[in-house]
Amino acid sequence: MRTVVARAAAPRRYLMCPPTYFRVTYSINPWMDPGKPVDLPLALTQWEDLRDRYLSLGHTVEELDPHPDLPDMVFAANGATVVDGRVLGARFAHPERSAEAAVHTEWFRAHGFTEVREPEHINEGEGDFAATASWLLAGRGFRSSPLSHPEAQEFFGRPVVGLDLVDPRYYHLDTALCVLDGDEVMYYPGAFSPGSRAVLRRLFPDALIAEEEDAAALGLNAVSDGRHVLLPQAAVGLFGPLRERGYEPIGMDLGELLKGGGSVKCCTLELRC
Ligand code: ARG
Repeated sequence: MRTVVARAAAPRRYLMCPPTYFRVTYSINPWMDPGKPVDLPLALTQWEDLRDRYLSLGHTVEELDPHPDLPDMVFAANGATVVDGRVLGARFAHPERSAEAAVHTEWFRAHGFTEVREPEHINEGEGDFAATASWLLAGRGFRSSPLSHPEAQEFFGRPVVGLDLVDPRYYHLDTALCVLDGDEVMYYPGAFSPGSRAVLRRLFPDALIAEEEDAAALGLNAVSDGRHVLLPQAAVGLFGPLRERGYEPIGMDLGELLKGGGSVKCCTLELRC
């Protein structure tokens, strides 16, 4: 029996982009089926519920203006990585999303961020970078280039741990791993290569290990403020284990955005200042 730790939420600052022009007209991940209709008003309501939930928990939400030609902009987490107020911009793997990178860097420059780097190598922001207290975890295999890892390490001055993603359903690190607090994470081992699994076991021997069903509901695409964990409501198997560790899971329905291959975390870029 694990001792329940009293968890404290720290106020966060997030950047989000409303799904005003969200649609699925191309397919760059296995979740996207252009033949499946998207209910846009419902997508907007679901997104507003997420934003309002952050606000009611005392967090700050900044909004990025959506662009009619960039339907995936709602997945704001991919546009940059912000650690210690330093901004590493994105460089997208697919041409369909490449113009999003400049929209993000412009936003950061216009909002008082002075250390903004336009990257040399492909990286899809917080889709593939996850900051724990000690490391910057970095996914590779589908989107971000392995060369983006030393680039991030040099820019942030934090040790980067590269992790190999092997299952196309979990094409970004944030679809398979979530930082809960400090150096505590939850993840789905099946998304990683055997060697990367061994690395994760070594770094995080007490991690919460997700079952396949919860991972397949994109349950790891979650956002934690150190106490509240907002996650897709269908990932029911994660609620009990999170509560046992003293977290307060909050189920969200982002079903329409799931048609684009993203959920809670993909819609949320954390501004760590
Ligand atoms: N349709 C988007 C793509 O394939 C979804 C991105 C989801 N974002 C994330 N952080 N995993 O790029």
